Amino acid sequence: MPELGVNIDHVATIREARKTYEPDPVWAAVQAELGGADGITIHLREDRRHIHDRDLRILKQTVQVKLNLEMAATEEMTGIAVDVHPEQCSLVPEKREEVTTEGGLDVIGNRENIRTCVSKLQDAGIEVSLFIDPNPQQVEASRELGVDAVELHTGRYADAQTPEERDREFDAIEEAGRLALELNLKLHMGHGLNYRNVSRIAAIPGLGELNIGHSIIARAVFVGLEEAVREMKALVAD
Ligand code: PXP
Repeated sequence: MPELGVNIDHVATIREARKTYEPDPVWAAVQAELGGADGITIHLREDRRHIHDRDLRILKQTVQVKLNLEMAATEEMTGIAVDVHPEQCSLVPEKREEVTTEGGLDVIGNRENIRTCVSKLQDAGIEVSLFIDPNPQQVEASRELGVDAVELHTGRYADAQTPEERDREFDAIEEAGRLALELNLKLHMGHGLNYRNVSRIAAIPGLGELNIGHSIIARAVFVGLEEAVREMKALVAD
């Protein structure tokens, strides 16, 4: 059964809507853990639009499950990660204008930059995952960099408009996932997953970790975060 990483960036987004102290992502992490989260995921963006350095540092001290830091492959972020030392860093592409992470990393096109970042993180004892599109060439390029894991982007599967398109995107994820496992990479997935579309993905053999944010926080508005995580965890476990 895959582990469930709960992305709590949206809690910080609400806080930043008023530039105040509440709701605090640190409180959210506690509730997510109580609901059965296996990991807490946060994205410290270059523009600090939601999660702040202070959140990362306090979460490192308080989170008792795996802390996964999503970050751009930059010198600044690598320095922060090496200093704070989360269990895992997930390297993601980052553009200032985007609403959320839009596509996977182009590992083939940015090999040297990513390599530098990966080796600094791994030298510090941090596991590294690369967020990539479900594309065999990107999986192979990730393997060549010696990373621990790849996180396959499930956004196109989640956004598919027809059953045929959804099946096509699912097949691409399954195939890229199989290749990752054959190459001895840990297999993670995430983006756009919700209470209706997660089960098919969660059943993929060998899947180690799912990262889910928006749908859990959206449901939490109505049922509370602990309950929203518990319901997602039950779907993932089924
Ligand atoms: N995985 C990665 C690498 C992401 O960047 C995000 C969004 O921050 C997620 C998973 C979670 O996506 P969603 O919020 O759509 O569940």
